[in-house]
Amino acid sequence: MRAGMIALAVTTALVQAPPAAARDGAAVWAAACARCHRSAGQLVPAIPATPANRAAWLDGFLAKHHARDAADRAAVIAWLLSQAKE
Ligand code: HEC
Repeated sequence: MRAGMIALAVTTALVQAPPAAARDGAAVWAAACARCHRSAGQLVPAIPATPANRAAWLDGFLAKHHARDAADRAAVIAWLLSQAKE
C-alpha cells in the first residue's frame, strides 16, 4: 500500500517535470536573456567548458549573469543545452 503510493507520487513527478522545465526555460530566456542574446544555439558551444561540464559552468556563470533565481537558472540551462548546436 505505502510503496504503491510512493510509486504513484514518483510517477506523477516524472510525468509533470520535463514539459514544465522545457516551457519555463524558453520563457526565462525570452524574458531575461533574448533582449541581449539573439541566438541561444550558438551561445552554448562558445562557452569555455567541455560538453560534459557545460551545465555546471552555466550554473556558476548565470548565478551572476541575469539568472539569480535557482529554479529559473535550472530551467534556462536545461533549455539552453537542448538548443545547443555543435
Ligand atoms: C543586458 C544584456 C544581457 C542580458 C540580459 C543577458 N546577457 Fe548573457 N551576455 C551579455 C554579454 C555582453 C556577454 C559577453 C560578456 C560577458 O561574458 O559577460 C554575455 C555572455 C553570456 C554567455 C557566454 C559567456 C562566455 O564567456 O562565453 C552566456 C552563456 C550568456 N551570456 C547567457 C545568458 C543567459 C542565459 C541570459 C538570461 C538568463 C543572459 N545571458 C542575459 C549580455 C547579456
